[in-house]
Order: sequence, then structure tokens, then C-alpha cells
Amino acid sequence: MNRFITINKKINFFKKKEIFVDGDKSLSIRFVLLSSISEGKCSAINLLKSEDVLSAIKCVKKLGVKVKFEDNKCEISGKGLSGLEYKKNLILNAGNSGTTARLLCSLLVDTNFEIKIIGDQSLEKRDMNRIIKPLKKFGVNFKSNYGKLPLFILGTKSLKPISYTEKLGSAQCKSAIMIAALKARGETKLKCLPSRNHTELMFKNIFKIPIKIQKKKNFEHIKIKGQKKLKAFNYNIPGDISSASFFIVLTLLSKNKKLKIKNTNLNSSRTGIIKILKMMGAQIKLSKLKTYKGEKIGDIIIKSTNKLKAINLSYKLNSSAIDEFLLIFLVACRCKGISTFNNLSELNKKESKRLDWGIKILNLMGVKAKKIKNSGIKIWGNENFNLNKKIVIKNYLKDHRILMVSIIAGLTLGGKWKIFDSESYKTSFPSFIKTLRSLGAIIK
Ligand code: S3P
Repeated sequence: MNRFITINKKINFFKKKEIFVDGDKSLSIRFVLLSSISEGKCSAINLLKSEDVLSAIKCVKKLGVKVKFEDNKCEISGKGLSGLEYKKNLILNAGNSGTTARLLCSLLVDTNFEIKIIGDQSLEKRDMNRIIKPLKKFGVNFKSNYGKLPLFILGTKSLKPISYTEKLGSAQCKSAIMIAALKARGETKLKCLPSRNHTELMFKNIFKIPIKIQKKKNFEHIKIKGQKKLKAFNYNIPGDISSASFFIVLTLLSKNKKLKIKNTNLNSSRTGIIKILKMMGAQIKLSKLKTYKGEKIGDIIIKSTNKLKAINLSYKLNSSAIDEFLLIFLVACRCKGISTFNNLSELNKKESKRLDWGIKILNLMGVKAKKIKNSGIKIWGNENFNLNKKIVIKNYLKDHRILMVSIIAGLTLGGKWKIFDSESYKTSFPSFIKTLRSLGAIIK
């Protein structure tokens, strides 16, 4: 049964002054995959227990890795860099998770049996060529469905280091190359456009791998030598800024509200949304800042405002806000003036075509918005914008961020919303609805 959520009422007042959001998804998936190839027992506190992370866990279990949960702690017994158990006819299902599918392939570069990787209906539409191309250069064999899933991977024990230029600004692609490089003999040289740097920080601060990173013009140059061992590690996972962003925008677009979101990852390669919203006039403060294993962490304090102004955003902030654009588009509806965003072709390569969906949802809301050249979007905002319409959201490939942004739109801008595939938030943020209700939202 395709169940739906209805929102008929804006959120009235907040019953709480502060919240926590679930653990960071990028860090949780990296913890699962990298601990599997570490030497012995690793543990994570506050690992995100969302469907994407559970998909990653199911995959490593099929490779012989033991995973144990106890209260808020996840323990993974790593099998070492070359200890994963490859078997005949193995099928690994990455579910909805692009990060799992792409980074998993980099763990399998030395498999001596062909392994099949599959995913759900949304993941089957996503580009795998971005990792097939560089991993082939290492000496890995692939068969795929025209660069998409399902794919078959057959590795080699004699992986050659590579030189590669990554031009998409994709952290998944960069990370896949970096992880494969660990198993190659010699130095891999990677030139890439900036993107989230969690893998670099884990390599440097946890495994103490002497990777070299240099910034030259728009590119980062990364050099990594093949390793013999990765030591076991523990990790305390902070809240996910991408999940926190739904509550930042909920507060920003509501009337006379203030909220603190505690213990969130504030790595600058992820905080594009905070920079962009501040440029639009938002009042956001960061407090209790500290650095943990190279990651910046702290609390976010946000206040509502009715003085938002339109923005003409340079593409340079795109990668640090890549998962937050649907929310930013929503804020643009309440800005005085016309906002433009550019070079967003990667948005249409996510769990659904998010650039197209962004325009579709805004148009359904009665907001003028259209695609412009260079895969951009133009949004005609109105600081008094208020909704008084019935809106139905369905057939969106169960994209978790479409469901969550639609709920935030209903709770802040008004209207009567009916949103299908009501469980999809569990992909990335299982306590989303519970946290909204704890603040006072009425969600049926
Ligand atoms: C992620 C990187 C981003 C992001 C995704 C998670 C990661 O994708 O959209 O949700 O954990 O590395 P790209 O690197 O493909 O832009």
C-alpha cells in the first residue's frame, strides 16, 4: 500500500528550544565501509540507523564482516585491507544509496570472483560510469547496464596506481578512487573539483595516512600511497547538517521562532546552506565549536525572519550545499526579488531529478520558477508568500528529500498537502517525523 502523509496546518509554536538530529549519513556509511577493512574491532557511537546505512551494513555482512549493535553503539570487526570474503555468485544490494554502491565498488577492487551489485528503482537510474571509469584504470573489470546498475565487478590482486582528473565535484567519485588507492601498489594522483572531504579527514586523522593535498586554482591535488594496514578505530558520529537543514528552514520560515540544533557536523565542505541562507538574510549563529578527528562540530542557533532577500548564487557554493538545494529553493519563495542558481546539473542525478522536481513543486505551489540555461533555476520570490492550495506529491521515486521538503513547505508556508510514499524519510533521517511532532507539528 502506498501510504500518504497529510499536512493541513502550519506549525504554531515550538514546544522545545533545542533538538538533536540523527547521525551524519556520509560519516556513518564511511564508518561501516572503512571499519570493515580495518584491523580488528572498531566502534561507532550514534551511527545513523537509516535504510541507507543498513544497506551498507547488509553488504559488508555478506563479505564476512561481523556487525553488532548494543544500545547506541555499533561494533564492527574489520577483516583487514585484503581480508574480505569473496564468494561465487555474491549479490550485494545497495538499496537506495548511491554512496554505498559507489564506495562499495572501491572495496571490491581485489575480488577474485565476479560480484553483482544491485539497487532499487531509483539507484538503477543513477550513473555508475563516474566510478567505473577510474576503477577500470586500476585494472578492475566491469560489466554494467550502459554505465548503470546492475553491474558486475571482477577485481585483480595487482592493482596499478592511477592518475585521474575528477571534474564532477563528486565526493563519492573522489572517495571511491581514494579507497581503491589504498589497495594499489604505488602512488595514486587525483586532481578533483572540491567536494565534501570526510574521506580525506578520516585517512589523515584516524588512519594517519600521509596523504598530500594541495589546492591549485579550482582543483585539489591529492596523492595517496597504497597501504598495508588500516588500524582499528572508534568514532563518535555528530548530527547530520543535511538533516539539521530541514529544521533550520522550518525555523527560518516560521513566525517568531528560535531553535538550537545541538552537536551537528559543521565541516565547511558541508555548510554551504548556512552561508547561502545568511546571504539571503537569515540569522544563524554557531556555538560550542570544537574539532573532532578533523571534523568541525557545534550547535546551530537559528531565528525566524521576514526580511529575506533574493540571491544570485555563484556555482562555487554548489558542492557544499548539494543535498540542500530543495530547501534553499523553498526559502527563495519567501525572498523579496528574483533568485537565480546556476550549474546544478548534478542535482538531476540524485535519488530523483531534483532540479526538475524543485521547479515542479514550486509551480504546484503557485510560485513562478523556471529552468534557465547552464542547468540553473530562476525563482520569483515574494516576502509575503502564503499558500492556500491543495497539493499532491507522488511518483517521485521515493526520494527522501522530496518528502521531507514538502512537509517543511506545508508546515511553514501553509496549504493542504498530501504526500505519498510516507516512509521514505527513513532512508536518511528516521527520527524526522518524531522530532517534528516533538516540536508541535501536526502530521497525519
Ligand atoms: C555524498 C556525496 C554527495 C551527496 C550524497 C552523499 C557522500 O554526492 O549528494 O548524499 O557521502 O560522499 P556526490 O559526491 O555524488 O555529489
